[in-house]
Amino acid sequence: MEKDFSLRKLNTFSFDVKAKYFQELKTPDDVRLLLENDIFRQCFDEDRVLILSGGSNVLFRNDFYDGFVVYPNFKGVETIEDTGNQKIIRCFSGEVWKDFVDLTVAEKLYGLENLSDIPGKVGAAPVQNIGAYGAEVKDVIYQVHTVDLASGEIRVFTNEECKFSYRSSVFKELKVKSRKLKGREANTTFCPLIFAVDFVLKKKDELKLDYGNIRNNLISKNITNPTIQDIADSVKEIRKEKLPEVGVVGSAGSFFQNAIISMDKYLKLKALYPEMPSYPEKDNMVKVPTGWLIDKAGWKGYRENHVGVWDKQALVLVHYGSGKPLEIIELMKKIQHSVKEKFGIEISPEVNII
Ligand code: EPU
Repeated sequence: MEKDFSLRKLNTFSFDVKAKYFQELKTPDDVRLLLENDIFRQCFDEDRVLILSGGSNVLFRNDFYDGFVVYPNFKGVETIEDTGNQKIIRCFSGEVWKDFVDLTVAEKLYGLENLSDIPGKVGAAPVQNIGAYGAEVKDVIYQVHTVDLASGEIRVFTNEECKFSYRSSVFKELKVKSRKLKGREANTTFCPLIFAVDFVLKKKDELKLDYGNIRNNLISKNITNPTIQDIADSVKEIRKEKLPEVGVVGSAGSFFQNAIISMDKYLKLKALYPEMPSYPEKDNMVKVPTGWLIDKAGWKGYRENHVGVWDKQALVLVHYGSGKPLEIIELMKKIQHSVKEKFGIEISPEVNII
């Protein structure tokens, strides 16, 4: 266990936040020792435990996390089942997501290619059901292996039990629930630490080309019969054009969730802004890209001291270095206020604010 550990390299915003206690987990024995550790137990009972994966979707409010950061870093990739037309691959949670995707693409296993180059680790993918360019990870997750930080019990969640939805899953909810409970009740709450994810990937060509720029990118390269590698390459190129490079500019990808509004509200806005992009949702709701709303409200490329709004994708807030987390929080509030004023829409962060 480390004390006053700097998390600068473990959050892609690159803020110099220190954790009071920090423990990396590499083996089942590390988990056993963690659960026996008195400081950990006390922090757990006081709801001062944070499971940190790649840190690509978190923003710490302060420079100091007064609690216990657990960093699962289990490694390994193995084939669990190989049938005629599909393979089930187990990937341990500490593997780097984009390296794992590259590996599946190289093996011509279909399902993850549209999710190429997303920063973070494999263990975080199911938590927020990562999605990009017409694909969501929920569509290829077979099951998720967890250990309960309260009891040490192993529990496997089937795809259905994960309760996946847009950028969410049961793992997000359970974490929140366990934080709210205190003392004895905390022992009755399941607090899952993900140690491996099983993916079911197809051996047969099933490419998703319909999202946004993928087709245009392929056409610009004169590719008419794309391979899985072509799709992965296109996604990587599009991401490079739109999103800041991890490790160069601090960010956490999309800072806000896309807005889901009623049909009524949508029709009123559409009359005012006929060019507004939108996607139909279930229950007569409509998804409106928050990046468009922020852009239209005039924030794209805005910069204030050490932070700003990315000039190629307004959904992304960036930290240019030497800043404080509070600067991002203040910018977030200004943008939320401005979008509410202009469009009457309340936008929520997609990033986990700790
Ligand atoms: N738009 C603008 N101005 C902007 C940004 C977007 O007008 O500054 C418009 C675009 O022209 C397009 C629409 O808004 O018509 C949607 O934009 P885009 O295709 O870039 O996707 P998004 O909805 O803004 C989502 C994900 C991204 C993912 C992309 C591509 C969320 C919160 N974000 O963004 O995920 O890469 O789709 O699939 O759902 C992430 O989660 O960190 C992330 C980057």
